[in-house]
Amino acid sequence: DKTFRIAPSILSANFAKLGQEIENVIKSGTDIVHFDVMDNHYVPNLTIGPLVCDAIRELSHNAGALIDVHLMVKPVDRIIPDFAKAGADIITFHPEASDHIDRSLALIRDSGCKAGLVFNPATPLHYLDYVMDKVDMILLMSVNPGFGGQKFIPATLDKLKQARARIDAYTEKSGRQIWLEVDGGVNANNIADIAKAGADTFVAGSAVFGAGKDTDPNRYDTIVGQL
Ligand code: DX5
Ligand code: ZN
Repeated sequence: DKTFRIAPSILSANFAKLGQEIENVIKSGTDIVHFDVMDNHYVPNLTIGPLVCDAIRELSHNAGALIDVHLMVKPVDRIIPDFAKAGADIITFHPEASDHIDRSLALIRDSGCKAGLVFNPATPLHYLDYVMDKVDMILLMSVNPGFGGQKFIPATLDKLKQARARIDAYTEKSGRQIWLEVDGGVNANNIADIAKAGADTFVAGSAVFGAGKDTDPNRYDTIVGQL
């Protein structure tokens, strides 16, 4: 699977014009809307929930774009059905935030969504050892979660290579694809190296959106142009 996907994080969008901002990135060619959910408990910031997901679902799905819900919340299980009902296509969570990782993954898949695990910069990949069959996406954080606009942590490149090796070995034996997503500090200057390290799906927040100001549609093209 050599397809690359950009997933603009609406965290850095102008929330007063959210619909327009999403329409713009979809027009530029995005097929994934990255939706950051923060609870002021697992991470020190508070963002958006199922209500906003429901508000953007029609707009996103009519254009063929998936909604990729990144849960930075603790506990995770209670909110999963609400996001499934609100139109989430992919739901990912941090293993440290769940007491029962296997159960949370099953809950997501039983709700009809694709499931993923998110690894903080210092979280080992061992959490994958017994759940590869239940994972559709692996998300490596290249910043500490909580805020947009942070700097890419270079050690992520090596971790991406390790995750890529795990996925390729698994795909060879199972025939099943798992997406490898990277989140945090991705921009036009580093995306080529990140792709080379093995990522196929790239979250980009501040590099795509103008954070409150109107987004220049060319920003998206500049990033894609590096792949
Ligand atoms: C950080 C979020 C990211 C964030 C990325 O906790 O998970 O999705 O929006 O923003 P940038 O691309 O600006 O680092
Ligand atoms: Zn995110």
